[in-house]
Amino acid sequence: MDPSGKVALITGAAGGLGRAFSRALLNAGAKIVASDADEAAGKKALEELEKQFGKGKVVFVKADVTNSSSLEEAFKAAKSTFNRLDIVINNAGIMRDSVWEKEIDVNVKGVVHGILLAYKYMGKQNGGAGGLVVNVSSVAGLDPVPQMAIYCGTKHAVCAMTRSYGDELHVNETGVRVVALCPGPTDTPLGRDAVQHCLHDYARQSMIDVTSSYGGLCTPDFIAEGLMTVIQEGKSGSVWVANNKIIKEIVYQRLVQ
Ligand SMILES: NC(=O)c1ccc[n+]([C@@H]2O[C@H](COP(=O)([O-])OP(=O)(O)OC[C@H]3O[C@@H](n4cnc5c(N)ncnc54)[C@H](O)[C@@H]3O)[C@@H](O)[C@H]2O)c1
Repeated sequence: MDPSGKVALITGAAGGLGRAFSRALLNAGAKIVASDADEAAGKKALEELEKQFGKGKVVFVKADVTNSSSLEEAFKAAKSTFNRLDIVINNAGIMRDSVWEKEIDVNVKGVVHGILLAYKYMGKQNGGAGGLVVNVSSVAGLDPVPQMAIYCGTKHAVCAMTRSYGDELHVNETGVRVVALCPGPTDTPLGRDAVQHCLHDYARQSMIDVTSSYGGLCTPDFIAEGLMTVIQEGKSGSVWVANNKIIKEIVYQRLVQ
């Protein structure tokens, strides 16, 4: 999809990747609904974006992805402000196995809420024009990460839901395509503070090595390039990795074709 002239909703938009995604989409000519649970950080992000791109292209909506009605406020704002919605980026996430129940709520339930609301607001079966959902997973959704096992499980769930909801069974009915982006370790608060949030003390030391095993920290702007590639080229159900200067689609082997 060409994002120019489109409206995109981004969750977790006040964070490191969310801000880079917002800038990339605005640069490409889209308008955006930036949403985040952190209102103060969200307003600051809005201020920065308005300074760079001018007023009228971005709105900020406080929304907690763990609560469907809270998240729905951001979807309503897309319709009321811009009168359309084309792209939903389910980006909000935390990497904190130390509070794993919350982590599952944000990373898994939050993405489910985002997909189901995308169907409600963009789905052909509900009078919408269809659209695109990009779920932000991680390289931890592709490989085992023993030091952050529960986070790893949540990100595998995001890839699995993408591959399943991206299937033509859903796309033919809804007109909503679903793709996933798996960033490598990236220079954001989440990426930098990971060690503090291990569940098991004995895992902390080797957590430090995880980042270097993937080639060091990526910049948020590089991951945003990955996002734009996925938006422009991603087939529904496809899962893409952006890490260490490489952006590519993952080839899965299925037991059943
Ligand atoms: N930074 C990395 O190394 C890395 C690597 C791979 C994948 N990811 C994924 O990228 C996404 C963005 O991560 P980031 O690095 O920008 O993190 P970040 O901590 O910089 O930003 C995350 C944002 O999500 C918001 N958020 C947290 N809980 C929320 C909730 N319940 N509802 C709405 N917003 C909420 C936070 O307020 C914050 O602004 C996450 O899904 C993360 O798992 C990050």
